[in-house]
Amino acid sequence: MCGIVGMVGKGVRIGNLVEGLEKLEYRGYDSAGIAFPDEQRVNVRKAVGKIGALKAQLKDIISVEITAGIAHTRWATHGAPSDANAHPHTDCTGKIAVVHNGIIENHLELREKLLRNGHEFHSETDTEVIAHLIEEHYEGDLPAAIRHTLIDLEGAYAIAVVHADNPDMIVAARKGSPLVVGVTETGGFLASDVTPLLKYLRDVYFIEDGDVVTLIPGNLEISRIDGSKASRPIIHIDWNEKAAEKGGFPHFMLKEIFEEPEVLRNALAGRIKNGRANLPEMENVVPAIKRARNVHIVACGTSFHAGLVLKRFLEDYAGLTVEIDVASEFRYRNIHIDENTIVIAVSQSGETADTLEGVRRVKVKGGTVIAVTNVVGSTLARESDVVVYLNAGPEIGVAATKTYVSQLAVLFIIGAYISHLRNEKDEIRQIINELEGMPTIFEGTLSTMNESILQLAKEYYQYRHFMYIGRGYGYPTALEGALKLKEISYIHASAYQAGELKHGPIALLDREFPVFAIVPDDALKAKVLSNIMETRARDAKVVAICTEGDQETGRIVNSRIEVPRVSDPLYPLVMSPYLQLFAYHIAVLRGNDPDKPRNLAKSVTVE
Ligand code: AGP
Repeated sequence: MCGIVGMVGKGVRIGNLVEGLEKLEYRGYDSAGIAFPDEQRVNVRKAVGKIGALKAQLKDIISVEITAGIAHTRWATHGAPSDANAHPHTDCTGKIAVVHNGIIENHLELREKLLRNGHEFHSETDTEVIAHLIEEHYEGDLPAAIRHTLIDLEGAYAIAVVHADNPDMIVAARKGSPLVVGVTETGGFLASDVTPLLKYLRDVYFIEDGDVVTLIPGNLEISRIDGSKASRPIIHIDWNEKAAEKGGFPHFMLKEIFEEPEVLRNALAGRIKNGRANLPEMENVVPAIKRARNVHIVACGTSFHAGLVLKRFLEDYAGLTVEIDVASEFRYRNIHIDENTIVIAVSQSGETADTLEGVRRVKVKGGTVIAVTNVVGSTLARESDVVVYLNAGPEIGVAATKTYVSQLAVLFIIGAYISHLRNEKDEIRQIINELEGMPTIFEGTLSTMNESILQLAKEYYQYRHFMYIGRGYGYPTALEGALKLKEISYIHASAYQAGELKHGPIALLDREFPVFAIVPDDALKAKVLSNIMETRARDAKVVAICTEGDQETGRIVNSRIEVPRVSDPLYPLVMSPYLQLFAYHIAVLRGNDPDKPRNLAKSVTVE
């Protein structure tokens, strides 16, 4: 996620804007910039890299007083990290500057229209279209010009805009990305979260989707896109700075789980059109997909579990036989790879050494690599034929949560895209339709499930072992649930194909070895129920995660978590926040810091 800061009023200095950005550094970023009205233009300074690079540009003016200013830390989505792609972005007159957090889904169409109208672009970003649209609509009234612009935009945004004609004004707006504003007697402040504002004020307004805010010293006005007035409650913030970085959550992991509805929106933004997968970034590999004789998925850890779901999805809906390996094994296999091989490499960080080495082997042998990653400009992104980005924003917690959810959503879109090209099954339309509604489903479940999962965790946090079992799409879910639990609670948690129990693992079970059963109401449910009966016969306690209303499962287990009914392939996605919260609460109950589990790194850049 990008970070936005804005300030107006007496005594505001350029250094205050930079200080505000430093409060947002925890969010992760790859470039930063500021803009402020300066005579007849806006003065823009920006630099790729850390805020120190920006400060070096500002060293002679850091104490200069300004009347208004906006600032931004960028987490790249469209266009690699660079000085030119850093925010703020300006219009052709150099009088307007914009900073933006989110994704403008129709930016390509808007860019083409603006180019036809004679506008000149200086970046690869989606954001720059906003500055030129405001320029087109501006007739002396900045808020009105911005309202017209917002009508043209599709996608998610939080924006802040300054104009040289209004040197003490900032106009801001939001749809899908957060924005907080507040005023003092002589000033006005806004940011992506409260952290940069705490130095100046404690009473804030959390702006809502469709709001437009006009900020001048000592006063703010909230309106809607149609110009009607709006009012928002004043919220008093009593968090300290550390708590504010986590949005009031006790840990980044919990905050990131609760970001999942927004993350899903960003993952799907612009990627479903008329009920079909829409991935312009994949166009270069369409011939390779059409001629592919073998498809391979390569990943590690949680990304591997997401890959397992894609494997099954491609088999079910694209008529493809797919191989999958953890990268540390794949890179040493002597398998046949040639120009008819497609490899889908999944890596949140884009820097996992084993995955990179695996990809390099594929490239040397003439295979085609499709990368799925969260980091624009990462090594994996640069060394692959095409890249599909997660757009999940930086993940601070070591345990993958929101990026797993984003990976599943993106991989379903890629799977659907491949099936459109190969051997499409009609049912795929239903799945895409359900996928489109998934952010709303997540909002509903996340708003209700947390307390019940905490109560369940209290029953199980003192066990030393846990066995997760599942079949079909439930098996990768079992693997991911077990990995989440083991990596942050340090409980020995293993996962098995439920059908494998009788081939050995069941010997482990007794009353001290509980089982977590993945039991969606799918074609394999009856089989899993009989496996559960096997475990109960060994006195093991059983927790089941099942489809809502499933009394049959409820009758044979000790505890159950119910999830909304979805099509079979989507159960790994809809179940993920429950399993993540279960692991999170158990880790906290055991006195661990879930954000920084022992022995683990966020990105495994060593072999
Ligand atoms: C998952 O919670 C872990 N952080 C770890 O297994 C991780 O998924 C794995 O190291 C792969 O990382 P990547 O997606 O960045 O390649």
